Amino acid sequence: MQVDGKAFRTIWLGADGESVEIIDQTKLPHRFEIVTLENLDDAARAIADMLVRGAPLIGATAAYGMALAARAEASDQALSAAYEKLHATRPTAINLRWALDEIMRVLGPLPVSERRARAYSRAAEIADEDVEINRGIGRAGLPIIEAICAGKRPGETVNILTHCNAGWLATVDWGTATAPIYMAHEAGIPVHVWVDETRPRNQGASLTAWELGHHGVPHTVIADNTGGHLMQHGMVDMVIVGTDRTTASGDVCNKIGTYLKALAARDNGVPFYVGLPSPTIDFRVHDGVKEIPIEERSGDEVAKITGRTAAGEIETVTIVPDGSPVANYAFDVTPARLVTGLITERGVLAANREAIAAAFPERVQAAA
Ligand code: MRU
Repeated sequence: MQVDGKAFRTIWLGADGESVEIIDQTKLPHRFEIVTLENLDDAARAIADMLVRGAPLIGATAAYGMALAARAEASDQALSAAYEKLHATRPTAINLRWALDEIMRVLGPLPVSERRARAYSRAAEIADEDVEINRGIGRAGLPIIEAICAGKRPGETVNILTHCNAGWLATVDWGTATAPIYMAHEAGIPVHVWVDETRPRNQGASLTAWELGHHGVPHTVIADNTGGHLMQHGMVDMVIVGTDRTTASGDVCNKIGTYLKALAARDNGVPFYVGLPSPTIDFRVHDGVKEIPIEERSGDEVAKITGRTAAGEIETVTIVPDGSPVANYAFDVTPARLVTGLITERGVLAANREAIAAAFPERVQAAA
């Protein structure tokens, strides 16, 4: 997508053809900085410290992390150690394991001498596939927005609420939740996005608002607790969120607070959609609440907040009393029964086992 008139993806190869470049998302929205990953440790740190984040981008970075590892040593032992290191970075987004398994699957049968080149080419394919998947989600989701628009008075705005950042910054390009929004905007449909700030790390306020702004998509940042009120007053036509892991039966794990939005949407008859790329489906799990590991991050993310001062300095301040315990659960699970539809690259699916299995039979078979 565009940043100041220049097209960017979130991850690409450096000039030497082997180092990996990323946008440091911890610096946004105040600074646009590019960071170079030279080795496995750099890649693992970038994921764990959330320089890159969002399930699909975590997967792509992990794939390139394996390539960076193979650059140093491509023996079975070295690759297994790299797999374990990258897998341990973040527990919830299943794209991480999916991408690591993909790299191991293609490298395993190859002689060591051929693994480095293949790791880079498979990582590049994974990145390109992500872009195509998201384009597919955009195409599948666009008719939903068109239908809502058709039911309104001519020129009336379609109001869409989203949570966290499931935009192009969370993927390689396009985003998942945002792909239908960008396509609707490009098609001339008047869309406006309610952007949940998404405490504690403020991915909505910092990232979604930034990328929508750079694309000229009208949006308004709201405090996380605002959505229910807006829905009660007819100010939200639909919700679209992303997901870090969706079970074979359609339970959706996403950024903490998503579940509350789904409850409010159900109570107010607002459709609740999920942008779901197929690598985010975990065919090995069925009950999201019981089976998906929920990341618990440092309490500092809750106790402190970072922003830009009037003088332009980036500063972090503490917002809780000294000594107050804090808890930081990073994700929650929205049960399938609250989901209106899963917008995938193969169309909009009902959130149930049968519909998901029918759309992705090869994945069901592979997981069996
Ligand atoms: O903790 P994060 O910022 O990695 O969480 C990201 C989300 O929850 C996104 O909504 C999800 O990964 C979908 S991204 C297309």
